[in-house]
Amino acid sequence: MNQLIEEAKKAREFAHAKYSNFKVGAAFEADGRIYRGSNVESSSYGLSICAERVALTKALSEGAKSISRIAIIADTKAPVSPCGACRQLLLDYAPDAEVIMTNLQGDTKVMTVSELLPFAFSDKDLKG
Ligand code: THU
Repeated sequence: MNQLIEEAKKAREFAHAKYSNFKVGAAFEADGRIYRGSNVESSSYGLSICAERVALTKALSEGAKSISRIAIIADTKAPVSPCGACRQLLLDYAPDAEVIMTNLQGDTKVMTVSELLPFAFSDKDLKG
């Protein structure tokens, strides 16, 4: 757990957060590999992308098959929690992954993606 948190911390150093000044780092473990992501903001604010979605799309587009653990870190009072949009995408691709939410003080909270998004819409709904 600590190693994945360290990876998320390293990812946070590459955050591009000049509009919000809120830097986030994420590290995904999949098939024995680590994929890192940071938030990347745009001058057109709504185009900004969260650290979790950066790491997720990096992992998926590089062939990751099974995302088992995710660590997220930010400078928050309580462990930082993924936003709603990220939860949906995480549910689509890694419903059983363990999400380690943490902050710079080292407080942690661990939940699965499914626990973070109960009664979710998913591919099962599309199948009727
Ligand atoms: N952000 C993340 O990267 N992940 C989260 O879980 C919450 C929010 C980013 C988006 C934006 O760049 C900044 O944090 C402020 O919302």
